[in-house]
Amino acid sequence: MQAATIKINQTGESQTLTIEKPASGLSLQGRIRVPGDKSISHRALMLGALATGETTVEGLLLGEDPRSTAKCFSLLGASISELNAELVTVRGVGLGDLTEPIDVLDAGNSGTTMRLMLGILASHPGRFFAVTGDSSLRSRPMSRVIKPLQQMGAQIWGRAGNSLAPLAVVGQQLKPIHYHSPIASAQVKSCILLAGLMAEGETTVTEPALSRDHSERMLRAFGAQLTVDRETCSVTVTGPAKLIGQKVIVPGDISSAAFWLVAGAIVPNSELVVENVGVNPTRTGVLEALEMMGADIELQNQREAAGEPVADILVRNSAQLKGCTIAGDLIPRLIDEIPILAVAAAFAKGTTVIRDAAELRVKESDRLAVMAAQLNRMGAKITELPDGLEITGGTPLTGADVDSYTDHRIAMSLAIAALNSSGVTNIHRAEAAAISYPDFTATLQQVCQPN
Ligand code: S3P
Repeated sequence: MQAATIKINQTGESQTLTIEKPASGLSLQGRIRVPGDKSISHRALMLGALATGETTVEGLLLGEDPRSTAKCFSLLGASISELNAELVTVRGVGLGDLTEPIDVLDAGNSGTTMRLMLGILASHPGRFFAVTGDSSLRSRPMSRVIKPLQQMGAQIWGRAGNSLAPLAVVGQQLKPIHYHSPIASAQVKSCILLAGLMAEGETTVTEPALSRDHSERMLRAFGAQLTVDRETCSVTVTGPAKLIGQKVIVPGDISSAAFWLVAGAIVPNSELVVENVGVNPTRTGVLEALEMMGADIELQNQREAAGEPVADILVRNSAQLKGCTIAGDLIPRLIDEIPILAVAAAFAKGTTVIRDAAELRVKESDRLAVMAAQLNRMGAKITELPDGLEITGGTPLTGADVDSYTDHRIAMSLAIAALNSSGVTNIHRAEAAAISYPDFTATLQQVCQPN
């Protein structure tokens, strides 16, 4: 029995991940865990930093993105213990008492860090903050949060007409607004709600479709007065709020589990259980999409941990996937899983159409353009649409030289495509996976069993 080739070649800071399945083929087997949820990890560190007293965080994601959040909030005066997945302790400063940092706040690659933090900084009167990020983040639109913050009275300056980082913020006493967001974005919603914590009165955000609601759940648990109207997709926070440190348990990230769910569904004879995955209904669109495609997926041991639903997820490769349409209100509920769903679609029979997903063009990379180009290098038949992809599945894929474009989800999606392809795939700049999943390659090696 010859094992699969799964190896990393390091050149300076850059890694190439090489994947070649053995001539006898392979299947994926085992029970695995994925790292902590990225969205919940950021929020636990931020609310912990703003609260009075101590917050403990179990299961924090140790990826680069939450590390950026931890560094920023340490500079802002919170006392955060060394990051580890078992237990992180955050001693908060108390709402409104962040200190003026002596250096630039660097959000790295993390849109969530920058956008949520802007709401917090803008509402700290009299303090000056400089905010930047890596080259990807410095090209991502910040006007979507800056404009509503300016309506609240925020003072923010930046490149390209106050829309791109680096940014300068001088905190103000903000006033509450009712903001009708043109996009369903949890980052926009959370930014405004966090700014609203310090504004006197009711700050409401209405969005066109429901985005992830981790901020709402956690803000309530920390003691904020918050009401949700599901009918109109509106959330209202009443300020000034008081936040009190809590115990947060971070479930496994369904966005990371998604790589294994697709891998298990497309690689012949696979059977995997991903344990302890967060299955908040605002995040489970990927399960619905895979079900539409005919995947064999079962939720086991459903439970709740610190206000978030959790389950173990079993996936079996039992049937050939079939194409489907993914659009509308489903999109915000699987926004980060579209790259890996494109891989599923490339192996499915028939055509898959993904629409209403123009947001993907302003993620860590232009995920529509990059996924189409990279999978097509492997022999897929994907056409880019202005707001999505049209994927004609079922053609066998062949290994190729492909590039992550330094986007973590692209790197991991291409690795899963490579598992089910013939020949050798080299994924360049694969180190990007560490943004949300530092142990991805180790788990890949662990679950791949030669036939
Ligand atoms: C996130 C919201 C989403 C998502 C991102 C994390 C969050 O972004 O893509 O990975 O934690 O709030 P948008 O709000 O831009 O859709």
